[in-house]
Amino acid sequence: MGKDINEKPFDDGTKLKLEIFQTCFKEWFPVLVHNHETREIFIADLLAGSGTDPDGLPGSPLLIIEEICRQKERCCKQLVTYNKIVNVYLNEIDEQKTKQLRHNVQQHLVSCKDKCGYTNCPIHVHYRSKDVDKIMRNNRFRNYMSDSHRAKFIILDQYGFKHVDEEVFKSLISYPKTDFIFFIASSFVRRFAKSEVVKKYFHSHKINFDEKRPKECHRIIVDYYKTLIPSDKDYFIHGFTIKKESNYWGLVFGTSHMYGMEKFLNTCWNIDKDSGESNCNINDDFPEDSLLRWNIESNKINQIKEDIEKGILNREIKNSVEGLSLTLHLGGLPRFFQETVKKLSEEGKIQIDPPSAKLSKGKVHRMEKYSIIVK
Ligand SMILES: C[S@@+](CC[C@H](N)C(=O)[O-])C[C@H]1O[C@@H](n2cnc3c(N)ncnc32)[C@H](O)[C@@H]1O
Repeated sequence: MGKDINEKPFDDGTKLKLEIFQTCFKEWFPVLVHNHETREIFIADLLAGSGTDPDGLPGSPLLIIEEICRQKERCCKQLVTYNKIVNVYLNEIDEQKTKQLRHNVQQHLVSCKDKCGYTNCPIHVHYRSKDVDKIMRNNRFRNYMSDSHRAKFIILDQYGFKHVDEEVFKSLISYPKTDFIFFIASSFVRRFAKSEVVKKYFHSHKINFDEKRPKECHRIIVDYYKTLIPSDKDYFIHGFTIKKESNYWGLVFGTSHMYGMEKFLNTCWNIDKDSGESNCNINDDFPEDSLLRWNIESNKINQIKEDIEKGILNREIKNSVEGLSLTLHLGGLPRFFQETVKKLSEEGKIQIDPPSAKLSKGKVHRMEKYSIIVK
């Protein structure tokens, strides 16, 4: 935990984490640029590091800047025409690293601006060297985050587990138009669950780790965070477990929007075709010494489809919107829902209304609204 991530070449686990940050941001950014209600886009990497590893591989802050520059053809015209701005806020407590970060980012921005026809660049980058805990508990930050005309994307790439406790998590889910992703060293929480240091940040008596299945520890932590969501709030959380040697780390993504969750799940299922949630065969879809699968469809897909089927036949799911919402909460892709509806319909167990509604397009914004009638 004490090592400096920017001093050694990024390992495979870190590269995977960065790939997920990048893809997630890449999907998120243009949607918000083209959203008519958004006047400002705020992107905060609150534990930013210096920007690269010793080989020059970009870390999260540079990936954000690179992605914005890469999308400028699509996005800057829109931003300038509609007078929108993008504020990128990069915070790193170590002043030397902040200096290095500023240097690294400026190099990218200079070459981006050189190739650009706009004199009034809509991208503003701000650098800070503050303690992230103080930032997140500061009233000015809280007020800023509470403005619903501002779309916000927060990255918290911590070393351990201390920066996202109950208070911080509850504020993150309370801010309007805010999506977030954070990293957590789940193996440490599991290993030291009974220690005072973990108990200070987590109600660890509410977290039941299965000693025989360490690979599930991140999933269990994600479930713990889900319990912190007020029961009257519809909020989507999904986690991704990253195995590094014998330890399990992970990402937690949160959004209040189905569309946001669909995009994140697409990223995860593109990486892990079996469960959309790990790089470590988390649901035992194949024996550890072989790549041959036990089942044609993975355990997770079977489980999600079973849960959807149950929900429909119990009449808890009465239409496509409710079905889609359940599917995303279960960590599944929209097509899992459509395939289940199709199957039940072919088996004569349900009827959809209107009968002409198409079941083929498994995408949130293209899905037709229809009712489901159990026969
Ligand atoms: C895991 S690294 C971030 C790596 C970065 N995301 C990347 O991809 O290169 C975490 C960073 O947080 C910084 N940090 C540690 N404690 C902090 C605090 N309390 N407030 C702000 N930054 C902190 C560390 O110096 C370190 O550079």
